[in-house]
Amino acid sequence: MRRFLVAGNWKMHGSSEMTADLISGVARRVLDAARLSEQKELGYDILVCPSAPYLSQAVDCSESQPISVGAQNVSQFDSGAYTGEISLSMLAELGCKYVLLGHSERRMLFNESDKEVAEKFSACLDHSLIVPILCIGETLAQRQAGQTEDVVAAQLDAVIDTVGITGFANAVIAYEPVWAIGTGETASPEQAQDVHAFIRAKLDGLSAEIAQAVRIVYGGSVKPSNADEQFAQKDIDGGLIGGASLQVSSFAGICEAVQKIIEKT
Ligand code: 13P
Repeated sequence: MRRFLVAGNWKMHGSSEMTADLISGVARRVLDAARLSEQKELGYDILVCPSAPYLSQAVDCSESQPISVGAQNVSQFDSGAYTGEISLSMLAELGCKYVLLGHSERRMLFNESDKEVAEKFSACLDHSLIVPILCIGETLAQRQAGQTEDVVAAQLDAVIDTVGITGFANAVIAYEPVWAIGTGETASPEQAQDVHAFIRAKLDGLSAEIAQAVRIVYGGSVKPSNADEQFAQKDIDGGLIGGASLQVSSFAGICEAVQKIIEKT
């Protein structure tokens, strides 16, 4: 049984005040909900990914809370003359546990290539303390042209060709259709499930064990009102949340939807 993951990608939003309030507020709500549940425990993982200046504070605030901290990006290089970049060792030293890789905003706005994403993924495996969350997904034009599976397969292949299937033994995949990000238009549960099933089947062709174990989370306009439908799908193991991760009520609401799904299973 895969453990659900609810991850918040704060993008370039936030402040010190928000970091403290959000982490304490979400922790309080999710722990209350877990206490009231049949399981009496939080049976899923929660992650927040603030901007780099708030990572250290977020780690401090989440100490002894059921919330991990991740970064939104990392360099593929260990150290050196790379002005503005942040290395995996630095993130690990701060206490980060995950890093987002290849978010569509980085691919499109900062020209991050499949090759760079694969190098960053590979660096995470070498480093081994930080779990990569590989973001993949098609644009609206690609979906309309019937290319969704080809695009997602190519983005996956770029990483598999570099690290092999075993690289996914300790990784997360985030399927984020670009047309659903920040638009309020979410993929239907069936659309999302179809792509998640495709991703899992592709990995299954290389290792059934890894395909069954890898968490594939969905991102794109997830809100408390649609989270339960999305996360009830067989191959959807949680979410990568943008806008709705910036407020306690909406992020905790999404976490509570997961708690309810766990209770039903
Ligand atoms: P929204 O939830 O705001 O659509 O953003 C999704 C996303 O890009 C998470 O990485």
